[in-house]
Amino acid sequence: MATSLVIAFCVMISFVGCAYAQPRAFFVFGDSLVDSGNNDFLATTARADNYPYGIDYPSHRPTGRFSNGYNIPDLISLELGLEPTLPYLSPLLVGEKLLIGANFASAGIGILNDTGFQFIHIIRIYKQLRLFELYQKRVSAHIGSEGARNLVNRALVLITLGGNDFVNNYYLVPFSARSRQFSLPDYVRYLISEYRKVLRRLYDLGARRVLVTGTGPMGCAPAELAMRGGPNGQCSVELERAASLYNPQLVDMIRSLNQEIGSDIFVAADAYRMHMDYITNPQAYGFATSKVACCGQGPYNGLGLCTPASNLCPNRELNAFWDAFHPSEKANKIIVNRILRGSAQYMYPMNLSTIMALDSRT
Ligand SMILES: *[C@@H]1O[C@H](CO)[C@@H](O)[C@H](O)[C@H]1NC(C)=O
Ligand SMILES: *[C@@H]1O[C@H](CO)[C@@H](O)[C@H](O)[C@H]1NC(C)=O
Repeated sequence: MATSLVIAFCVMISFVGCAYAQPRAFFVFGDSLVDSGNNDFLATTARADNYPYGIDYPSHRPTGRFSNGYNIPDLISLELGLEPTLPYLSPLLVGEKLLIGANFASAGIGILNDTGFQFIHIIRIYKQLRLFELYQKRVSAHIGSEGARNLVNRALVLITLGGNDFVNNYYLVPFSARSRQFSLPDYVRYLISEYRKVLRRLYDLGARRVLVTGTGPMGCAPAELAMRGGPNGQCSVELERAASLYNPQLVDMIRSLNQEIGSDIFVAADAYRMHMDYITNPQAYGFATSKVACCGQGPYNGLGLCTPASNLCPNRELNAFWDAFHPSEKANKIIVNRILRGSAQYMYPMNLSTIMALDSRT
């Protein structure tokens, strides 16, 4: 097979030459929006391992993705012509498959160590970074430490974090520990300062092209419409306020981190704007509704989990939300299209097409 020939070639001669022969690796960190199945290997309740998850995936079976089909990392891999990135905990992630990259994401986690504390055994962000280090050791055993460093430096990285620090922490219960400790503006400042450390660590571990997504309109997810939305399906005011404080500060932090490093390592994706386009005007994007989840129960299908007993919409292309919190595959496609081709309003300082063009020249 082509890849194994490349590996053999790399082992025999210079690692520098070999780095250019390989396709670009892709690494993914974060929460359920980008988890491709790690939690299925863990003893946790935060998992998407039941019907009808995966109903529109090529296998038509649940894979651990919180989607009816592909999730955002899958669609990025497909657009870039890369093999889909395997979950780090998958037993299939061995040998030459390691060179494709790895997905370390784990549903339920946040920036803070105490986010998602109700889910035991999930892989919190510092553990994901630790596994990234171990991954690099494993790759070094195949292609040498210089080859591994090259692979990581040339890789594309995606990190999606932060939503759970609100919905599974600050706003999880009334009078949560964090909401008693911090006012919302102070909490957001604290999150951003902790996120900066996470991103700095990713840089120190060799990442050089990192897409960082902000939070979507959390207050407009069917779960929030059901629990704290307005009487006519208006988005939750508190969660919308949280997103409006958090997202601009994330972009400022990224700008300042890039300045400190002296290079455009981190690229901010305005997930809020990307989602809001179809939430405010679902029909323009071919959706029948952006309020009602495809799978679930209760108002807006927003209460509880998506299970075999839930309501299930017949045509998943018509719902912007797949379950109470996660976009449908069709919505994910719109988001990935914006990540690739969006204007400067969506992608700061540049979109992924521009990144690919720039990096292919070096
Ligand atoms: C979170 O945990 C990591 C490692 O377990 C630790 O290094 C870090 O300081 C912790 N963060 C906070 C804010 O306590
Ligand atoms: C990507 O970003 C560049 C630079 O901002 C812009 O010119 C271009 O129109 C965007 N879209 C594509 C497809 O490159």
